[in-house]
Amino acid sequence: NTYDLLVVGSANADLVVGVDRRPAAGETVLGSDLVVHPGGKGANQAVAAARLGARTALLARVGDDGHGRLLRDSMESAGVDTSGVLVGGAPTGVALITVDPSGDNSIVVSPGANGRLTPDDVRAAGGLFAGAKVVSVMLEIPLESVAEVARSVADGARLVLNPSPPAPLPDEVLAACDPLIVNEHEARVVLGAEPDGEPEDWARDLLALGPRSVVITLGSEGALVADASGARRVASVRVKAVDTTGAGDAFTAALAWRLGTGESLADAAAYAARVGAAAVTKEGAQASYPTADEVASL
Ligand code: RIB
Ligand code: NA
Repeated sequence: NTYDLLVVGSANADLVVGVDRRPAAGETVLGSDLVVHPGGKGANQAVAAARLGARTALLARVGDDGHGRLLRDSMESAGVDTSGVLVGGAPTGVALITVDPSGDNSIVVSPGANGRLTPDDVRAAGGLFAGAKVVSVMLEIPLESVAEVARSVADGARLVLNPSPPAPLPDEVLAACDPLIVNEHEARVVLGAEPDGEPEDWARDLLALGPRSVVITLGSEGALVADASGARRVASVRVKAVDTTGAGDAFTAALAWRLGTGESLADAAAYAARVGAAAVTKEGAQASYPTADEVASL
């Protein structure tokens, strides 16, 4: 294979302001100086995997503007193959992010060019799919393009989907996931109902929708992995949170890459938990992602 991981997804400029607390409707609060970081769930995953040493390509769309160049620079310095990064059609996507003193974030995304990554763009990128062991996709691009991604995964390759921001998923997409990666909120939207009982029960209900495997991330409680052979808990790694933005993307990318190396779902998730933990200890998304050496010394 040419690529350990092909990521299909969004690239955003993250406009980040620190706040003591978020404003209520009709209220104004003062925040810190603005920082602009390269972000977007797709570009984040691609950079995270490349930093770990995976041969990674990104299929995405950015605008012909300064934010697009910021993203390309970040990806190229991490070693991401950007031959699938298309340019034009709309301004680069922007994420308006506030980070509070506990490191938690709130995000509004303006999709811009991400919304113009069409099923035709996906079909035209057949060469990237043919060379990829694992394909990872999320929902900051049009759902019909996500469905085309699910159809484009090569025989023998696997699809990883994190439905974020969450939306109900078509059956053909669900059936292709191995694994579907969700947090509690995303599980609720995918299930179309309040999850019942324990995470083990949600995993069973999610598996009944068709994915070959499921990973449920549980924040400080770690994660749960499940497939037809059963469910297992994976411990979290305790660190002091500075900025959680993009930590989930680093988790997903690390998991996807390790699965492609033949690791079990539980082992890949345990490694991914360490990568996600390292990412929350620093500001920004892509700017905070660890190398494999940094993960080993965590
Ligand atoms: O998952 C974090 C990312 O979500 C940010 O980088 C932002 O761009 C939004 O896409
Ligand atoms: Na971070």
